[in-house]
Amino acid sequence: MTAPHSDALVLFGVTGDLAHKMIFPALYALAKRGALKVPVIGVAAPRWNLEQLHERVEDSLKRAGGIDNQDAFHQLLSLLEYVSGDYKDPVTFTKIKEALGGAVRPAHYLAIPPSLFETVIQGLGVASLAENARVIVEKPFGRDLASARALNRVARSVFPDDSIFRIDHYLGKEAIMNILYFRFANTFLEPIWNRNYVASVQITLAEDFGVADRAGFYETAGCLRDVIQNHLFQVVALLAMEPPAGRGFGAVHSEKAKVFEAMRPLSPDDLVRGQYAGYREEPNVARDSDVETFCALRLLIDSWRWEGVPWYLRSGKYLAETEAEVLVELKPPPQLLFADSAPTAGRANYLRFQLSPHAAIALAARVKHPGKEFIGDQRELYLLEEQPGQETPYERLLGDAMAGDGALFTREDAIEAAWAVVDPILRDHHSSYPYPRGGWGPKEADALIAANGSWHNPKPEDVAG
Ligand code: BG6
Repeated sequence: MTAPHSDALVLFGVTGDLAHKMIFPALYALAKRGALKVPVIGVAAPRWNLEQLHERVEDSLKRAGGIDNQDAFHQLLSLLEYVSGDYKDPVTFTKIKEALGGAVRPAHYLAIPPSLFETVIQGLGVASLAENARVIVEKPFGRDLASARALNRVARSVFPDDSIFRIDHYLGKEAIMNILYFRFANTFLEPIWNRNYVASVQITLAEDFGVADRAGFYETAGCLRDVIQNHLFQVVALLAMEPPAGRGFGAVHSEKAKVFEAMRPLSPDDLVRGQYAGYREEPNVARDSDVETFCALRLLIDSWRWEGVPWYLRSGKYLAETEAEVLVELKPPPQLLFADSAPTAGRANYLRFQLSPHAAIALAARVKHPGKEFIGDQRELYLLEEQPGQETPYERLLGDAMAGDGALFTREDAIEAAWAVVDPILRDHHSSYPYPRGGWGPKEADALIAANGSWHNPKPEDVAG
């Protein structure tokens, strides 16, 4: 049985940054595909009129690449309504109810500061706006295990679990969906996808820009909470999970949750935190801030498949490139028949998933140079390159949530298990090391991985092969 489609979208935080950067372009893309036909009720505190909201939408679309379909643009504008009000005031919810008119299955999207999630969810419950409705919750879902549990409790007291859509936009990325497909649509990988053949796995999410105008938020979060506990952990789960027992996505969710449960809780020595030069001079940042803008960690998964295989995760702002990739490094051959295949001769065979800005999968293997000597080098075999015209994660996830398809969202148990892994080091950790802009973070991060090789620093040319 397919779930009924939501018959309205209520967008809390419509005047905010996320709506401007991500949600309006996603709604416009849905409108272009003919997939947006329901009223969109924007809610926020400012006393705007509809015209101001229209201007905001137009500005958002222009910045996101322009308006190339006037019909879709006007359709989006015609669907918009605006409700101004305080989220703590029951009158706001009465106004939303009025604006909903005959709609009986709304989807409520909370594109608002996390501190307001519970207030709005409870407001929806009290105003009977949760019946037959869905709620879409942005990250960060909690700021530690206790707050994630509390938020789940509140959400579950108002909505059934299959009506709660917890967004992690990484799950809507084509390259990340392809990890799941690539692993379980092929047979050749399974025999080597374990501790017997895999030496280590490293995942890098590098950005060559700083916290920009989000410093206030970043001060309350830091890199570990902002991208590691959610985005990178989700990538780990897809790489590390056991084959799901069935085709339904419930089985995928269950296997992913088991990965988080098998992760060994982190200790301070598993983590290197860094802070880019000049961070403390950013507006809204404490002059003595220790918040990390870079984070590298070593993770172990205590399972039959992964026992003893280190997983290295790293992310940072103001690094040398804006790139994300996974490198699964295999063990070297058991006998070194050729001098140049010694471990000291470079990286062993590996599989590389480039996640952004382009999607690619590469398998690296050694091949011999022509001539009498048995000397060769490692070459990458490309298995996939990105196709143009893909849906953006927000377009995909928003469409899925309104259609009631929870496949690409995170489940309560998985979120809590992921928090349990990082919880011990959220407060108990070594100080941040300063690092210069434009490099690969503090050198202490190199020491973290040294026992098992070195970081692979992704380069844009990697995609070209
Ligand atoms: C967001 C973080 O969730 O993900 C940002 O808050 C980060 O700090 C962003 O820059 C990275 O996402 P993407 O899709 O640009 O790789």
